[in-house]
Amino acid sequence: MVSSKAAVVAALAAPALADSHYFFTGFFSGSTIVGVEFDDAASTLTWKQNISTNATGSKWIELDERKQNLYVGSTGAFQSYAVGGNGSSLTYKSEVTLSSGAGSSTSAAELDCTNANFIGVASASPYTVFGIPYGTGCSGLAISVDSSGSIQNTVANLTYNSTSGVHGVDVSPDNDFVYSADDMGNAVWTHSFDSTTGEAKTLQYLAAPEGSDPRHLAVHPNGQWVYVVYEAASSIAVYKRDNETGLLTDMNTTYSLLPTGYTNSSSYWADEVMFSLPTDDITAPKYLVAATRSRQTSVTGQVSVFSLDAETGAISEQLFLLPTTASGGSANAVAPAPFSEDYFAITDSGSNFVEMWKIADDGKSAAAVAHLDLQAGPANVVWYT
Ligand SMILES: *[C@@H]1O[C@H](CO)[C@@H](O)[C@H](O)[C@H]1NC(C)=O
Ligand SMILES: *[C@@H]1O[C@H](CO)[C@@H](O)[C@H](O)[C@H]1NC(C)=O
Ligand SMILES: *[C@@H]1O[C@H](CO)[C@@H](O)[C@H](O)[C@H]1NC(C)=O
Ligand SMILES: *[C@@H]1O[C@H](CO)[C@@H](O)[C@H](O)[C@H]1NC(C)=O
Ligand SMILES: *[C@@H]1O[C@H](CO)[C@@H](O)[C@H](O)[C@H]1NC(C)=O
Ligand SMILES: *[C@@H]1O[C@H](CO)[C@@H](O)[C@H](O)[C@H]1NC(C)=O
Ligand SMILES: *[C@@H]1O[C@H](CO)[C@@H](O)[C@H](O)[C@H]1NC(C)=O
Ligand SMILES: *[C@@H]1O[C@H](CO)[C@@H](O)[C@H](O)[C@H]1NC(C)=O
Repeated sequence: MVSSKAAVVAALAAPALADSHYFFTGFFSGSTIVGVEFDDAASTLTWKQNISTNATGSKWIELDERKQNLYVGSTGAFQSYAVGGNGSSLTYKSEVTLSSGAGSSTSAAELDCTNANFIGVASASPYTVFGIPYGTGCSGLAISVDSSGSIQNTVANLTYNSTSGVHGVDVSPDNDFVYSADDMGNAVWTHSFDSTTGEAKTLQYLAAPEGSDPRHLAVHPNGQWVYVVYEAASSIAVYKRDNETGLLTDMNTTYSLLPTGYTNSSSYWADEVMFSLPTDDITAPKYLVAATRSRQTSVTGQVSVFSLDAETGAISEQLFLLPTTASGGSANAVAPAPFSEDYFAITDSGSNFVEMWKIADDGKSAAAVAHLDLQAGPANVVWYT
């Protein structure tokens, strides 16, 4: 009995490898969201489902913490779908529509804030959804959800400058702060959000160095760091976070996402940064994964992985920088897998495919281990299992 119990414990502790896993991918155009299976024993990607939705393009998709709802940034609306049948169905539930001019930080009616571009989700009840329209002077929307997770109403605006254009956000581990990457305004913002009163306050505006253009960012699950991808500079910037006040300090440290000697950063546009997902201690991810796109479909993008200090979460080392299979198009969005920190998915909308990459055991390199051609340009991937 002792040995079989030990075997059960070992099986639970081990990463769920030799198994099949499932993700959704959204697309820059069309109403289809695709369900894909990855078999890590055979290293194969299989096209499982074409799911019809009411979306007109799904340029960003996000699952809630409970993996019961898929939120979709569609043309003119943030939509919610209930996930059913182990990921085989998406049932349309509700949406918040964006009307031209509304939601802008200024009263100028000509501002277009209908480009539903990015979604962040609070990781704990009441699971507030942050919908971010991308356009000059647009505010971010804090959107309430009902008990099942369907989106309801905008409860607060996260306001920026009239020259801002926020492309990505992330929520602090305690869900009390929202960080915004202001691509058009070249800045990083800190807002507080009180989910009880529904009040959002601007706490901090940090101008980024000229020519940076923060695009996306990721708050370390231990609350100590925010890593920001600078789109124009094609680099990763390090911001220290005060875990009490939520305020950031720019550490003036960047890591290039372009090989040494490349002087043509204007030919690239960096896009994504995400943490690997530990299967045990979720506050101590091993890796930070980032990618940049090439502006020419005939030239590859780049992908880089950094090791993180297990105690502090600081970057220990930029482990490698490698060409991606193709340019990335408008995507090259990396999505670390939930079953092993060694795997991440990557989308390519320039050549219409999704790939699985595996980081080598010694952490010094990575390679594409599975490739799936798709019917259109995928935007981002979210892992269901
Ligand atoms: C999904 O649709 C594409 C065409 O757009 C088709 O090639 C593919 O076989 C379909 N996949 C499934 C699983 O139905
Ligand atoms: C689109 O929305 C309507 C409700 O407005 C719903 O009845 C229908 O099932 C939805 N279609 C899809 C494909 O999700
Ligand atoms: C979901 O998967 C489980 C385990 O494989 C299976 O027992 C169940 O029937 C599936 N449910 C649906 C609705 O497909
Ligand atoms: C958000 O801002 C818009 C436009 O200024 C305004 O109409 C709306 O009432 C605001 N919403 C909330 C919840 O404050
Ligand atoms: C943007 O807003 C911040 C905070 O209100 C302010 O400090 C900064 O000067 C503004 N910058 C521009 C370019 O308007
Ligand atoms: C950061 O703050 C949160 C919320 O107050 C707390 O739960 C967590 O333990 C803190 N983490 C560290 C590393 O201090
Ligand atoms: C980063 O540079 C700015 C501007 O030179 C300076 O004010 C700030 O103190 C520096 N930050 C750190 C952590 O050294
Ligand atoms: C950027 O410059 C490098 C080095 O000269 C070259 O290999 C690469 O093709 C260039 N990239 C683009 C997108 O033009």
